[in-house]
Order: sequence, then structure tokens, then C-alpha cells
Amino acid sequence: MAGIIFLGAPGSGKGTQAQILAESLAIPHISTGEILREAIANQTELGKQAKAYVDGGELVPDELLLDLIRERLGQPDAQIGWILDGFPRNITQAAFLDELLTELGQSCQWAINLRVPQAVLIQRLLLRGRKDDTEETIRHRLEIYEEKTAPLIEYYQKRDKLHSIDGDRTPEDVAEALKSLVS
Ligand code: AP5
Ligand code: MG
Repeated sequence: MAGIIFLGAPGSGKGTQAQILAESLAIPHISTGEILREAIANQTELGKQAKAYVDGGELVPDELLLDLIRERLGQPDAQIGWILDGFPRNITQAAFLDELLTELGQSCQWAINLRVPQAVLIQRLLLRGRKDDTEETIRHRLEIYEEKTAPLIEYYQKRDKLHSIDGDRTPEDVAEALKSLVS
């Protein structure tokens, strides 16, 4: 099975690249951001609890996500592999995932860090204009990323899973680099 984690700052291209790679490997693309935005749009219980955090660029509390990931990775289509985009987001989530994968008899082969300069990230997100892509919220998301998520780079490096990819190229070039990494 192929278990792939996409690390990378907001705007680094996780969603864009995870979708392309998931299609080419025929494995599910699991984006916690997309799951949360859909829950918010449908006003589900999860959505109601998550909305203020997502809108403000804060991380949603771990307990809202852990059961969700456990349930998702247990589904039949995830048994041949998966790409996680936006999870784990902090050390607690990464430690939870390690335990969960052992429990499920699954493993992560690659933690891919998409590297993109901060000025480019901001430019890309302002151009996209999602609800949380205002200048103030982007800055806050980048701060949260540095504080909570960037430490995962070392976490996966220590476990020999980390691969850094230059994400400041055309989407096609990044996709090509990723494809050759995992093939
Ligand atoms: P999430 O949805 O994960 O957002 P994010 O990490 O801020 O990242 P983005 O989705 O903005 O960027 P991306 O890296 O996916 O880049 P994309 O491909 O879209 O999380 C949103 C919120 O949900 C969080 O703030 C938090 O509240 C909550 N959340 C989610 N997961 C959580 C978790 N595990 N725990 C707690 N809370 C959680 O590209 C960005 C733009 O750039 C697009 O317009 C794209 O077309 C363009 N682009 C992409 N690649 C290129 C390229 N190579 N060249 C030029 N433009 C490009
Ligand atoms: Mg995304």
C-alpha cells in the first residue's frame, strides 16, 4: 500500500498536487480542510463546531479530527493506500496517526514537504480568494503553520520519511517530480 502525507504551508500546493497524484495512483485523496469546509457548508454538527476556527485560520481542536481520520482510514477504499492532505497538522496528530497506522496494519512511506517562499504563498492565496484567504487570515495561518506544523518536518525526518520538493515551479513540473519520487 502507498501511504503519503503532504506537508507544506498554506498555499504550497498540497491540494493541487495531492489530487493529481491520488488520481494517478488510484488511491483516495483525503483533505481535512475539504472535509471541514464541506461540513461547514452543510451545517453538520462538525461544521458548526469547526466554523469559527476555520474562518479565523486557527487549527480546529484535535478531538474533532481524530475520530474522523480513524473512520476514514478504516474504509475499504483506503486499504490500498491514501494521500493525507492537511493532516497531521501538529505533533499530537502525528503521534495519533503513528499509533492508528500500527493498529490498522498500515504505514506511511512518504511525508512530502512542498517548499515555497512565503511571498509566493501569500500571492497565490490572495489570488485564489477562499473565505480564509484575506490578508490578515493568511498571515495568521502562516504563523500557526510555523508554530504548530513546521515541527513535523523534523518529526518525519527523524523517521526517515521526509522528502522535500521544490514547489515553486509550474504545477506540471511539481507533479512530475512527485510522480518520479513515488514510482
Ligand atoms: P487547509 O484546507 O488544509 O488549508 P491550508 O493548509 O491553509 O492550505 P491551502 O488549502 O490554502 O493550500 P494548499 O497547500 O492546499 O494549496 P493549493 O493547492 O490549494 O486547512 C484550512 C483550515 O482547516 C485550517 O486553517 C484549519 O482551520 C482547518 N484544518 C484543516 N486540517 C486541519 C487539521 N488537521 N487540524 C486542525 N485544523 C485543520 O494551492 C493554493 C493556490 O495556489 C490555488 O489557487 C492553486 O491553484 C495555486 N497553485 C497551486 N500550485 C501552484 C503552482 N505550482 N504555481 C502557481 N500556483 C499554484
Ligand atoms: Mg488545500
